[in-house]
Amino acid sequence: MIPPGTDDWLDQAAEQFGTPSFVYFADRIAQRIDELRDAFEGRFALSYAVKSNPNPALLAWLNGRIDLLDVSSIGEFHLAIEAGWNPILISFTGPAKRDFEIRDAIHGNVGLLVIESLREARLANAVARSIGCVQRVLVRIAPDSIPKGFGDQMAGRPSPFGIDLDDAAEALGLIMAMPNLNLAGLHIYSGTQCLKPEAIVENYRGFLQIFTMLCEAHEITPDKLILGSGLGVAYHDQDIPLNLTDIASGILPDIERFCAQPRFANTQLALELGRYLVAEAGFFLTRVVSIKQSRGVRIAICDGGMNNHLPASGHFGMVIRRNYSMHKVGGGTGLEKVDLSGPLCTSIDRLGSGVDLPHLEEGDVIAIHNSGAYGLTASPIHFISHAPPAELMVMDGEIRDISRFLPDVQPTQPVLYDALKCRV
Ligand SMILES: Cc1ncc(COP(=O)(O)O)c(C=O)c1O
Repeated sequence: MIPPGTDDWLDQAAEQFGTPSFVYFADRIAQRIDELRDAFEGRFALSYAVKSNPNPALLAWLNGRIDLLDVSSIGEFHLAIEAGWNPILISFTGPAKRDFEIRDAIHGNVGLLVIESLREARLANAVARSIGCVQRVLVRIAPDSIPKGFGDQMAGRPSPFGIDLDDAAEALGLIMAMPNLNLAGLHIYSGTQCLKPEAIVENYRGFLQIFTMLCEAHEITPDKLILGSGLGVAYHDQDIPLNLTDIASGILPDIERFCAQPRFANTQLALELGRYLVAEAGFFLTRVVSIKQSRGVRIAICDGGMNNHLPASGHFGMVIRRNYSMHKVGGGTGLEKVDLSGPLCTSIDRLGSGVDLPHLEEGDVIAIHNSGAYGLTASPIHFISHAPPAELMVMDGEIRDISRFLPDVQPTQPVLYDALKCRV
């Protein structure tokens, strides 16, 4: 169910700023933050995974509303700093950090460098030594198993992420002996997009066991343990959204026992998450340019497709393509089956197959739900050189244009025509 009043905003957004566009509702992200804090009784600090939506205005809005940020490239680190974040509140994950990224992050006072390999540890130690500092690090551990039900698995199998649990004992010994690194704690992120509360609880329980075992074995008294949330989003009509209370009631007793241990009395537990915070707050608006009746199938050809929203096209980790939940802005009576395709010259540019929608005509706007995470950022926006979609935020009773990318490929721009003339 979309909240009442949504359609009025979406209609206004499409009229005022055009399509294709993403519309994010700030109050719904704020509500999610509150729900998470309430459900887990404040036991977890919240760390926002910038990769899920790195829009600079969104990052600035989150500053002060969320506790920590996790970045996965030096580009994301710079975006966060430009958005006003204190680097001390930023962690830096990612399995392929290049030398210059590690150097720039340490020079930029990153709060926690998340070490994913001994190579990164050696490099970080050398950089820190060269500038005479001690860098705080977390070591990322890849558990040897993950419960069933996670749409994307990053551990429990051969994986590029983190240090495998089997190798952790030796690696931790080596890292702790590096004089310019300070082991502030551990990090575990093993999978995401899980809609099964019992699997999420089992996963967190496993993390707490690993933290306990490794910290005891190495006599680590950690400042911080970050764990990856895995909290999934009900993208499709048949999905059942997560009930946070089910997860909290399963894991809170374990957390209480964990925190009662003297070693963890001053340890901050942080939940690292992206989609669960921002996906549902976002809608993707795409307008029907043309209708084609083709061999018995009605096809609505839209101005934004896979180039703007790869996940909704089914090419971002979906094994069997399923339609994202969507509706026709402004509604209508009666339902008929329609396929939705985008503007690209490829048959995989499809946002819907056999969707039940009110009768569509040219000019109608479709709103695709759950589009606030991994929308624009995960999409091949340069393919076929259409102008990038706008990004809009509904906040404080108005719609603000927070577009990250300027439409530098608009064919109406005189500068582009001039450039083309020069070439002929
Ligand atoms: C290390 C890490 N942290 C956080 C996330 C965010 O995941 P989600 O947006 O599903 O919460 C990911 C996703 O891939 C990740 O790899």
